[in-house]
Amino acid sequence: MYTLEIMKILGIETSCDETAICLIEVEDKPKIGQILTILGNQLYSQIAKHKEFGGVFPMLAKREHQKNLVPLFVKCLDESGLLREARNDKTDRHCEGSPEAIQKIEGLRKVLDREVELFEDFIKVIPQIPKPDIDAIAVTNGPGLEPALWVGVNFAKALSTLWNIPIIPTNHMEGHIVVASLEAVENQKRFLIQQIKHPAIALLISGGHTQLVLVKDNLEYQIVGSTRDDAVGEAYDKVARMLNLSYPGGPEISRLADLYKGGGSIKFPRPMLHSKDLDFSFSGLKTSVLYLIKELPELTEKIKQEIAFEFQAAVTDVLVAKTRKAVEQYGAQTLIVGGGVIANKDIRLALEKLATELGIDFKLPEISASTDNALMIALAGYLNLKAGKKTDSDFKASGNLSL
Ligand code: KG4
Ligand code: ZN
Repeated sequence: MYTLEIMKILGIETSCDETAICLIEVEDKPKIGQILTILGNQLYSQIAKHKEFGGVFPMLAKREHQKNLVPLFVKCLDESGLLREARNDKTDRHCEGSPEAIQKIEGLRKVLDREVELFEDFIKVIPQIPKPDIDAIAVTNGPGLEPALWVGVNFAKALSTLWNIPIIPTNHMEGHIVVASLEAVENQKRFLIQQIKHPAIALLISGGHTQLVLVKDNLEYQIVGSTRDDAVGEAYDKVARMLNLSYPGGPEISRLADLYKGGGSIKFPRPMLHSKDLDFSFSGLKTSVLYLIKELPELTEKIKQEIAFEFQAAVTDVLVAKTRKAVEQYGAQTLIVGGGVIANKDIRLALEKLATELGIDFKLPEISASTDNALMIALAGYLNLKAGKKTDSDFKASGNLSL
């Protein structure tokens, strides 16, 4: 078990279309609690690259991660000051051409066997950097797009091979949940890791996931509801395409919905609103939108606004009803929300109102920490290490990894 009072953890996230690296330092202070400082935080969003495909294209995501990881990592180290520190301390540098250095390079070639582009970048840059003072690497090993996940996993393994730093494979969904426990203490760089009141219910909504998770205690989860077809964000993106809006569709639909002045008669179904379970389904709603558009003589701007408004109202009603049910069923004391769709003001406000009405705590991370990022991965890795989870060097990326 890790007993260090100050730990530095590097987080790596490549599960979808964000390449993200974050370096945190956590100090466990008696009586005060755990204080997290962000030393470096770098993120490259590939959204613009995926726009022309109308969604995330896995092999393009993989290529982009390969291209971006090394420069982002170097930037992150530089931002944290560790690059300078390491450069001043030359004790650990391997002599180029020495048998030990050659052996290391061969080891790296093996680890990065399937990431040719990344290997070339890595070998040019990383072995020239002396080992920075990092205690562990947390990397997302699922769920997500498998080719994309592998790039981050293999990058972490390569760093670990070169510098002998242990790795903690980390669940992306756990990252979305634990990041809600951060409370800013000064600027947006220092946080207290708060104690969440359990049991809690976490609603995670993004382009890739729609889940209700029961958080029984610290790091103890049970998925109690999930979508049977499309994720919420995916439904937004598909409906946006039907309305000839660009990707990602969420912000576009939300903008149109805000312009709607009322007075229309369009009504969409609220799928599974009254079902006994906590599952969701959004594909029927999406189909209703499609059928309605097909019947229309013309898709005017005014009708587009009404469709956007009514679609958003249907989604919000279902999310609120199912979350209410989950909170009541499990006696939750906290509602945690996360994922890209939380950027939606109406959905956010409706969920906050629900928590107030039910008299429970509401935990909403900063929007930048709510969408995919590496801070949440570094934090989840830290909490797991502290709780005694073993580090691992022989693990796989797993697209369907469950909590
Ligand atoms: O968490 P995220 O950045 O990436 C993953 O999918 O993991 O979420 C992106 C999703 C997209 O589907 C996007 O359309 C949706 O979040 N989104 C929104 C809004 N902003 C982003 N959906 C509704 N309203 C928004 N304002
Ligand atoms: Zn996510």
